[in-house]
Amino acid sequence: MKLVSFLIVSLLTIVVAIAFSGLTGQASVVNFPTNYQTKFFQYATVACPKSQIVRKMYVNPEVIDAIATTGTVPSDTIIAMETHSAKIGGDGRLIPNQLNNVFVRKKKTGWRVSNDSGEWQSTWYSPSGNLVSSSQGSCISCHTMVRDRDYLFTLPALLKAAKTNQMQYQKTEFGTSVCQ
Ligand code: HEC
Repeated sequence: MKLVSFLIVSLLTIVVAIAFSGLTGQASVVNFPTNYQTKFFQYATVACPKSQIVRKMYVNPEVIDAIATTGTVPSDTIIAMETHSAKIGGDGRLIPNQLNNVFVRKKKTGWRVSNDSGEWQSTWYSPSGNLVSSSQGSCISCHTMVRDRDYLFTLPALLKAAKTNQMQYQKTEFGTSVCQ
């Protein structure tokens, strides 16, 4: 009798744990994509002239064909963005001189951190891959600005780069506090 109730309690604990992880959507921290600089495709460079920052965006190569043919971003897309401090060069272009952060977002069917986050989870790393923050709130609060682009500011550049195989260079369209 004792064994039966022990088994029932164990089973309930597991069921509750699974249900809870499903509800919160906190499946896991998005891993640091090791060797993204050589394995991923760099689809965009965004200049922030006022902030003197250059941001470089990379996408995992497995999803590029699907993005090019469907014009949408599939489950299992991983985007890594580097932020570099920069100097203004002779031609007025920004020249990156130090890598400071790597921001990673991953899309997975069924991931819902909040009602207005799309199916994305975010993590912030140091250049060497040490975790800086896995808190979702601040990332979500700004990326809701582009919910009509699947929460990706650079979706148009990503679509164009996937179709043409050409990295897109542009100045920030948005002028937010993090890139002006
Ligand atoms: C204040 C607004 C703001 C906050 C907060 C913010 N972002 Fe962004 N993010 C942007 C903008 C704007 C871009 C597009 C490039 C540009 O113009 O700076 C961007 C681009 C990105 C990209 C490249 C894909 C895309 O959406 O274009 C990733 C990845 C990213 N952010 C991750 C993060 C993560 C992770 C966090 C939280 C730790 C975060 N962001 C917080 C504004 C923000």
